Amino acid sequence: MAGGRDKGRVEPEWEEDDRGWRDPPTQDTLEPAWPGGDMNPPWVVLKFGGTSVTTVQNWERIESVLRERLDEGVQPVVVCSALSRVSDALERLLDAAAGGKDILPALRFLVDRHAEQAEAMGLDLAKEAGDLLQDLERLAHGASLIGEASHRLRARIMSAGELISTRLGAAWLNARGMEVSWQDAREILRSRGGEDLLQATCAYEADAALQERFASLEQPVVITQGFIARDPKGDTVLLGRGGSDTSATTLAAMLQAQRVEIWTDVPGMFTANPRQVPAARLLRRLDYDEAQELATTGATVLHPRCIPPVREHGIPLQVRCTTHPQLPGTLVTAVADGSPRVKAVSHRKGIALVSMNTVGMWHQVGFLADAFALFKKHGLSVDLVATSESSVTVSLDGAQVPEALLTDLATICRPRVIAPVAAVSLVGRRIRAILHRLGPVVERFEEHRVHLLSQAASDLNLTVVVDEDQAEPLVAALHALLFSEVEGDDFGESWETLFAAEGSVGEEAPSAPPWWEEKLDALRQIAAEGSPAYVYDLATAEGAARDLLSLRNIDRLLYAVKANPNPELLRLFHGLGLGFECVSPGELEHLVALFGELPPTLFTPNFAPREDYERGFELGAQVTLDSLFPLEHWPDLFRQREVFVRIDPGRGRGHHRFVVTAGSQSKFGIPLEEVERLQQLAERHELRVVGLHAHAGSGILEATAWREKADLLAQIATLFPDVQTLDLGGGLGVPDRAGRPALDVEALDASLDHFREDNQDFALWLEPGRFLVAQAGVLLTRVTQVKRKGERTYIGVDAGMNSLIRPALYGAWHDIVNLDRLDQPGAITADIVGPICETGDVLGHGRHLPETSPGDLLAILTTGAYGRAMSSTYNLREPAREALL
Ligand code: LLP
Repeated sequence: MAGGRDKGRVEPEWEEDDRGWRDPPTQDTLEPAWPGGDMNPPWVVLKFGGTSVTTVQNWERIESVLRERLDEGVQPVVVCSALSRVSDALERLLDAAAGGKDILPALRFLVDRHAEQAEAMGLDLAKEAGDLLQDLERLAHGASLIGEASHRLRARIMSAGELISTRLGAAWLNARGMEVSWQDAREILRSRGGEDLLQATCAYEADAALQERFASLEQPVVITQGFIARDPKGDTVLLGRGGSDTSATTLAAMLQAQRVEIWTDVPGMFTANPRQVPAARLLRRLDYDEAQELATTGATVLHPRCIPPVREHGIPLQVRCTTHPQLPGTLVTAVADGSPRVKAVSHRKGIALVSMNTVGMWHQVGFLADAFALFKKHGLSVDLVATSESSVTVSLDGAQVPEALLTDLATICRPRVIAPVAAVSLVGRRIRAILHRLGPVVERFEEHRVHLLSQAASDLNLTVVVDEDQAEPLVAALHALLFSEVEGDDFGESWETLFAAEGSVGEEAPSAPPWWEEKLDALRQIAAEGSPAYVYDLATAEGAARDLLSLRNIDRLLYAVKANPNPELLRLFHGLGLGFECVSPGELEHLVALFGELPPTLFTPNFAPREDYERGFELGAQVTLDSLFPLEHWPDLFRQREVFVRIDPGRGRGHHRFVVTAGSQSKFGIPLEEVERLQQLAERHELRVVGLHAHAGSGILEATAWREKADLLAQIATLFPDVQTLDLGGGLGVPDRAGRPALDVEALDASLDHFREDNQDFALWLEPGRFLVAQAGVLLTRVTQVKRKGERTYIGVDAGMNSLIRPALYGAWHDIVNLDRLDQPGAITADIVGPICETGDVLGHGRHLPETSPGDLLAILTTGAYGRAMSSTYNLREPAREALL
């Protein structure tokens, strides 16, 4: 496979090598770029994003940054975004106006939002921005009257956010005694014209007239708006979402500023998204190409379009954090360092692949030209490309591929859509030169279905396209492999080290401490009686069950016993009224032994021998057929029985390909194309299909996944008149590490509301395992030995892969904490390993822990599901025992 995106400047590396790399400026050596530097102070353009201009506290921070710059002897030019949530509200206003809906709620929100901010700043909104609000109201009523909003009107309405926020900011700074000149960005930035008014681009040549105009201003500080400009006809235009960064760099280019500072709510660019990978390291220096590549491949800190103006003029750009101004941030300059290196792992979700099979058209001249012409016709821009002799695959941003495109494509090839998928990219300079060092990384790809591999012609990224739900685990795994021990000046502190003291950065509300932190004494006592030990907190399991019991659209919950057959947990769920889902006679008999008889239980064997089905019927379980084989070969066993049927919905999801239980790669369920045959067999053997079942995978965090199954099963149910129940399976995921978003169960419920309206007659069942028990369990284990070998540190513990096999089997991540040093900061990066004779006996790779000593008690978190249940006596070592709280 070959091909690939090639965004940014392409220059042969050897030429740059020969020329030698330009030394990047550091903060102390940034020289004024102002040609008449001895006469006028040089300009520094500072951009503050939405979060940064909201709250008075942030304006105080802005003020102190500006005072520092003035002390430094430079002239600040401030570019501001709209207050946070205002641009969204303006969009809502426009949608309401254009859709003939009531515009008052959105208008009221906008007025209240600004009034609240003005009041907090001690300002009179009517005085500072009354004219702008009146304009906004007038324009919105106009749009509402005609029931549509042209791009011209849209641009004018959207511009209100930035205009008002800067009016308030200027007034506040002036009131604090800082002399500020408010400038309308539309008098400064000129778009090229002839383009979409909502996606305009501006020229960024040096502008002597503007330099002169700003130099002659009386006030030492200029404040203006991001995102907006004017076209040659004098109309307001927008630079596209995230365009404020571009405003700042364009202005810097026009002014030939000394530097640009982008102030935002994160302290720079990181080796991965730090909210997903807390071990991500701050990137202290990047060159323009790398920064642009990172912005394009998924990092959202900078807008990709903001780089060309500063690159063209060699103006350094710094990313700084408004709430943590003491941190150095990321400095983006001309080529920082010529050595090949991966700088980051990023990902973009919501992508679709279109694969075009051209068998029969081999060597047809102009096929690509014809195909691309069709993409162009439908206004779609192709990103990644891979070609082979008989097929071409391209990626498109956005997971929806227009039907009309496919119809057109079908005239020249056989098109197939693969979506939603995600692109995971290794970003860095001269990646080709280090392919040989990426061996372990490439091995990692083997675990994920790679739909497309592409290496950018600019040699700045290596991208693989995988199923969307594989993206985050893959990023985490690649990051651990590539960055657990990187050295060098380009890499700063990790996110978790920077924010260890505060827990997190950003605006998330602090959450309650987890149960294991509140029950430390009890855990210590259990560990004192012997380790390793799984400990389950019944209250947490009960809480999870009650969360699901409260779902309005779910009629019955079955607990998937395989996740954890611990008798106390089974008693708890039985007491709460849950039924059970079993996969073997062993599980069925375990329930009978515990409760005296079999409670309501669904039995879902797979590739099981005939006796298993017999046993299921005998014990009174509701038996599920997941293949036609039993019916074809043992019809006598099923004649006149009531059964559930497990359907393979064709497409699955899951935290790892081993737990995706749909599609031809998986052995489960009856494929859709066999449903008709099932119908015939059912009639022939007088089988009553009373329930349809679909379990498409495990560890799913997308709330809509169950709704998709409900829709499909309801369709199939039209073929089977006796169906009363649709069992949507289990698979409800839990976040594998602290701070990650959880499955939104309310959204899951809400996604079923519509379904319910049309399908009142079916009972809907769920059969979760993990969701009910994972977070209720921890594995306590004691440190046995600590050893350094080469560059790595190993922390040995008394639990091994025989107690917890998930990391070895799926590369699963479990947070690991040192319970004896919870208040100490991370000091070492180590692999946590067990005593089993396998190199794969690793419970956690590259973990950042406090200084850890033999005898310390560690807890491996979120191990209540598929922990003890999958353990073994491998090496004749007993797995961890179990205890309850
Ligand atoms: N129903 C059926 C038919 C199943 O096969 C499973 C799990 C469940 C329900 C429960 O799925 P849950 O809600 O727990 O995701 N060992 C893997 C998980 C394998 C799941 C197998 N089937 C792991 O450790 O992640």
